[in-house]
Order: sequence, then C-alpha cells, then structure tokens
Amino acid sequence: MTKKLWATFALISLGTSAAAQDSNSLSIDGEAMVTEVAAPAHMENVDTIYSGWRFRSAETQALEMDDFDNPAFVFVEQAEDLWDKVDGAAGKACSSCHEDVADFAGLRTQLPRVDDGELVTMENLINECRTERMEAEPWKWSKGNMTAMTALIGVQSRGMPMNVAIDGDAAPFWEKGKELYYTRVGQLDMACSNCHEDNYGMMIRADHLSQGQVNGFPTYRLKNAKLNSIHGRFKGCMKNIRATPFKEGGDEFKALELYLASRGQGLSVETPSVRN
Ligand code: HEC
Ligand code: HEC
Repeated sequence: MTKKLWATFALISLGTSAAAQDSNSLSIDGEAMVTEVAAPAHMENVDTIYSGWRFRSAETQALEMDDFDNPAFVFVEQAEDLWDKVDGAAGKACSSCHEDVADFAGLRTQLPRVDDGELVTMENLINECRTERMEAEPWKWSKGNMTAMTALIGVQSRGMPMNVAIDGDAAPFWEKGKELYYTRVGQLDMACSNCHEDNYGMMIRADHLSQGQVNGFPTYRLKNAKLNSIHGRFKGCMKNIRATPFKEGGDEFKALELYLASRGQGLSVETPSVRN
C-alpha cells in the first residue's frame, strides 16, 4: 500500500469497543419492536442480529420512539398528498386504483422479491405503476418523491418481522448478493462484512458500527436531514472505502439488498427509522 493509502486507512481504522448501547428496548407509539433476535440459519458467523437502532445514541434513539418527534413523518405526510395526486397521461392517482395504502401492510417485509424471473424492490413496483399504469415519468431512485412514498408504504408494515424469500427463484439473486457482501473492493480493499460482520459494536471514527441492517429504510439521517434509500446508503459505504459504487437500482445493489434483508429475518420493520 502507498503511504497515502495507509493514511486514509488510519483515519477509518477501528477503535475500541464501545460501551453498551444506551437503550435496549424499542417501542414506537406503544408498539414493541423486535430489535434483537437469533440470526437466521444461513448466517454462519453471527449468532444474534440487532437492529441499527441499538447502536445509536440515546438522543437519536429517542427520535424514533415517537412519531411526533420523528422528522421522517414530514415526508410521510408529503407522500399522503402524492397518493391522491393525479399525474401522467392516464389521468390517475395512486388512490384511483389502490383503495387504501394500509392494504400494503406486510409488503415491506417481503421485498425484494422475484416477479416473473426479475428481482424487484419497492421502488421498482412503484415505478411500474407510474410508467405502465399512470403513463407518468418514473421517479428517481433516491429522490424525495420516491423515498417519501417508500416510507409511506413501508410504515404500513411497521412492527412486522422481515421475511424475504431466498429459495426457489430467489436463490441465484441471493447467492449473488452474498458474494458481493464478502467481496473486498475499493482502494481500502474492504468488504461489507469487514465492518458490519467482523466489527459491529466497535467505534469507527465517532460512529458506532452496526450490522448494516435494512429493516428501518428509508431512513431519516440527521447528517443530511432527509430520507435515504437503501441503495443510497450502500453507495455511501462504497464511497467511504474508496470504491466505485454500483448503480442505484442496478442488479448488484438489488441482489445486495435481498441478501441484507435476509440477514435481518425476524427483526421488526422500523420504517421510517432515524439514524445519524
Ligand atoms: C391504474 C391503476 C393503478 C394506479 C394508478 C396505480 N397502481 Fe399500483 N398497482 C396496480 C395494479 C393493478 C397492481 C398489481 C396488482 C396488485 O398487486 O394490486 C399494482 C401494484 C402496486 C404495488 C405492488 C403491490 C404488491 O403487493 O405487490 C405497489 C407498491 C403499488 N402498486 C403502488 C402504487 C403507487 C405508489 C401508485 C401511485 C404512484 C400506484 N401504485 C398507482 C394498479 C395501479
Ligand atoms: C469501513 C467500514 C464500512 C464498510 C466496509 C461498509 N460500511 Fe456500511 N456503514 C458503515 C458505518 C460507519 C455506518 C453507519 C453506522 C452503522 O449503522 O453501522 C454504516 C451504515 C450502513 C447501513 C445502515 C444501517 C442502519 O441501521 O441504518 C447499511 C445498510 C450499510 N452500512 C450497508 C453496507 C454495505 C451493503 C456495505 C458493502 C457494500 C457496507 N455497508 C460497507 C461502515 C461501513
């Protein structure tokens, strides 16, 4: 490694193990969430899985515990307006065809899933309705309208356990996601697993490393004061290790999303979560 690279690596080198989490039990508006559960059988190196909420500071944790305090709900309300807004050449709104957004309860727990041989995420399903059924422009993957709508649909499943299919049609996508998770990339030559499996619970600079779970997405980050998509977060992590990120909505990130969702089987959906 060059001198410069070593310097970069020192910047993100892992410090001492952090103190115990501030709080261990999460209930949101009185409903208890599962933030810790036995790891699914396919995870060979981890016994227990934890929601990212468990690794945040008391102040950040508190923001997620009450919907009035959770800044993400501003965007959920925006999506409620979008739900009724006519857009596109067909002259339809979401509500023209879908009676009640609450009918989507459970959907978040099962995504991504395979439809007709293709791995699809929540964003794909929404854009399919926009382009095919509304004759409207697709929404950009991580832009405001899309993250607001994925939050509104996701929150209908809040408290339900993550439960993606990884067998049958989904198996090849899952295998691909697993391979990506363990592949070292970038100038720092690191894999997702090096941080989120080998070192969760440690401090990295001022940040408490979690297992990199996706059960709380889209997530409101205090850092950028907006909702962040799953693929947007993957992109950020790849940039941090000086790797060229894959494309949002591309095959690699979709496969990675399925694999990560499967590493969170049994954790409650916490959409929309709050992180730093
Ligand atoms: C012209 C009618 C129509 C409009 C308008 C429409 N949808 Fe759909 N949507 C459907 C149909 C039909 C399906 C597929 C059958 C089903 O699962 O309900 C579907 C499926 C979906 C699904 C997947 C549901 C599942 O369980 O797999 C989501 C999510 C969704 N729509 C969201 C939206 C959103 C958000 C909008 C507005 C931006 C919208 N739809 C607009 C008709 C519509
Ligand atoms: C150099 C260490 C490092 C690597 C390598 C890394 N991340 Fe992260 N990641 C972080 C840090 C730091 C955070 C913010 C604190 C936390 O939740 O761990 C984070 C957060 C996340 C989160 C959000 C978790 C939550 O609860 O909101 C996800 C998802 C994630 N990473 C996925 C990935 C994926 C996928 C890869 C591989 C492409 C990856 N990360 C590689 C350091 C890393």
